[in-house]
This record gives sequence, C-alpha cells and structure tokens, in this order.
Amino acid sequence: MIRGKNVLIRPMEDEDQQFVSELNLDPAVRSNVVGWDFPQSLRHQQAWFRGSSSDESTHRWIVTDTGGLPLGLTGLWGIDWHDRNALTALKLGGPHASRGRGIGRDAIKAVMAFAFYDVGLHRLHSTVIAGNSASTGAYVDHCGWQIEGVLRHQVWRHGGYCDLLAIGVLKDEFDALPDAAEYVALVTEGRVHGSQSSHPAGSRGPTRPQVGGQ
Ligand SMILES: CC(C)(COP(=O)(O)OP(=O)(O)OC[C@H]1O[C@@H](n2cnc3c(N)ncnc32)[C@H](O)[C@@H]1OP(=O)(O)O)[C@@H](O)C(=O)NCCC(=O)NCCS
Repeated sequence: MIRGKNVLIRPMEDEDQQFVSELNLDPAVRSNVVGWDFPQSLRHQQAWFRGSSSDESTHRWIVTDTGGLPLGLTGLWGIDWHDRNALTALKLGGPHASRGRGIGRDAIKAVMAFAFYDVGLHRLHSTVIAGNSASTGAYVDHCGWQIEGVLRHQVWRHGGYCDLLAIGVLKDEFDALPDAAEYVALVTEGRVHGSQSSHPAGSRGPTRPQVGGQ
C-alpha cells in the first residue's frame, strides 16, 4: 500500500475491473489520455486484465480515498532497472467526482516518493496531450515535473491533430518540493529504526532499491 496525504494506492485486482471499465468510458478520461481504443464492455475489460502483463516492469495500481473508494488508476510501466526510470500515468474519474480536488497532485507525489525512495528509481516520465491544463497543472505546476519536448501532431483527437508534450521529473526535483519529506515519510513508514536517511530534508529514506514486492 502506498500512502498519500488523502489517498491510498494499491495493486489492481480482478474486482476493480468494473471501476476501470467505467473510468475508461468517462468522457474526460477518453478525451485526455494518450492511446485510444473503441469503448469496451466489462467482459472485454476483464479478459484484457486476465491476459495483461504481470512482469516486474509493469505495476498497475488503483487510487482510492482513505476509506477505500476507488478514484482512479495509476502505476509504473516499463521500469528500466539499468537506467532507473519508468513511465507513470494517472486517470481520475468514473462514478465518483474525483477531479479538481487536489487528489491528482497527492497521488502523483505519493507515486514519486514510492518510485524514488522505495523502488530506487532516478527519473519518471510521461506524456500529456497539449491543452490538458489539469494534467500540466498537476504534474508541472504542483509536482516539479518539466516539459521536456513537444511531439508535433503526434495524436489524432477531437477531429484534429494535437501536439504531445513529453514530461519528466528527476529525483532531485521531487526532493525540492516543499512537502517531499512528508511524502517520503508516508511511503517509508515501516522502516526499521537506525537505517540511514538519504533525503536531504532529513526524512526517512531507503537503504537500497527493491524489485517488486509491493
Ligand atoms: C489530470 C488529472 C490527473 C489531474 O488531477 P486533479 O485531481 O484533477 O488535479 P488537481 O486537483 O490536483 O489540480 C492540479 C492543478 O491543475 C489545474 N487544474 C485542475 N483541474 C483543472 C481543469 N479542469 N482545468 C484547468 N486546470 C485545472 C489547477 O492549476 C490545479 O491547481 P490549483 O488547484 O492550485 O488551481 C485529472 O484531472 C484526470 O485524471 N483527468 C482526466 C484524465 C487525464 O487527463 N489524465 C492525465 C493524462 S496525461
């Protein structure tokens, strides 16, 4: 379980597929996420999940409120253990009103703290369709991410081509966030007393990266 201030993040289960199906059909999600597919039935979603990758480089998680109500989906994809980077993404929506309440930035910071201080990664990256101000607001304005490049007309959406922003964040940029230490403490709270902290703000940090196991 990964903890944010107001969210919990846990592995995706078979029982989550109803929620994931509704999330993927949410018009705000369909319009704004990269990758496109025909609207899918619950049965298709369940079959996809059963056949989806379970290797150590892909981890799909459900974001919930502190009471366990599902609010969205996040994870780490394509973890590169040599170069210590991974893709991350976040979709909030579905049956419960979850957008525009600060949940996005809380979940992003919790995932960053976990990726940098539990997994041991150095960099996270993602992409955002240009004009998705909720996404750039959350990642870039609030969570220390940088816009690193523009892939012109990379995505066909809403009857036209859209630019795609390549975004990324380094561990040092996470560390510079005013509340980074609080998030590191939340994801390392089971630490055995006496380990060395590697967080500049003096909070608890990892002693070595771990592969899988969350
Ligand atoms: C993008 C997303 C994850 C952001 O999470 P969120 O919880 O809605 O965002 P937050 O409430 O943390 O807001 C972060 C900032 O983004 C901006 N923002 C949020 N919603 C916005 C909107 N609808 N329009 C413009 N700016 C918005 C604001 O600057 C906000 O900061 P503020 O509260 O200080 O004004 C979420 O809106 C979402 O899942 N959207 C649909 C799917 C999607 O676009 N996923 C991302 C694909 S890259």
